[in-house]
Amino acid sequence: MSFDDAIKALSLDALKNVKDGHVIGLGSGRAATALVKSLSKYIKTKKIAVKCVPTSMQIKLIAEKGGLELIDADQIDKIDLVFDGADQIDKNKFLIKGGGGALLKENILISAAKKVIIMADSSKFVKDFNRTIPIEVQPSARQIVWKKIERLSGKPELRTLDRGYPFFTENSNIILDCGFGVIKNPKILQQKLLNIPGVIEVGIFTRKPDIIYKAKANGKFEILT
Ligand code: A5P
Repeated sequence: MSFDDAIKALSLDALKNVKDGHVIGLGSGRAATALVKSLSKYIKTKKIAVKCVPTSMQIKLIAEKGGLELIDADQIDKIDLVFDGADQIDKNKFLIKGGGGALLKENILISAAKKVIIMADSSKFVKDFNRTIPIEVQPSARQIVWKKIERLSGKPELRTLDRGYPFFTENSNIILDCGFGVIKNPKILQQKLLNIPGVIEVGIFTRKPDIIYKAKANGKFEILT
């Protein structure tokens, strides 16, 4: 039994929230992938119809493969449910997102969702955030934003691919992964970062999820509401 078994098991439980006619936002990453694979089977077995809004090409490809009906985010003004993973979850149930670079669309969908369901393994749960924050930045503002982040005591690093090429998001922006040590006041830091011109999105999400699934190494899971 492993985290992967726990993620598979909790995906099946999380699917109880899906109802006929729902519009569902699909987050990106491994947890979202497990959920999407189970969702494809679930709607066929239950003979229900849902429409899915992907947050990235990564999850779109998985959803397409599973035969899920897809719609673009610009065709909807609200979403019944969003299923997503997280890079870290703190004591306030705030999230760090953007490890895969899909933070902008993830935040847009989460902001429009009636219910947000987050799935993550137990290693992601911390008292205070202590990992880097992904910040999506318009490329021409790279150096200006970099300096301003340093003035906030941050240590930015340009996200790159394996061979050193810069990573570009699906919105043609760059990502600065920024270290701030242990973050005691994430809401204030989020606001300061969002106030920097050239910053497109900040990977600190302060909308509290409605349901959080915690996957454990023994293959079991816990539900936090
Ligand atoms: C995508 O940009 C991220 O926000 C992911 O949701 C996050 O990195 C969690 O991914 P895993 O489920 O792969 O850990």
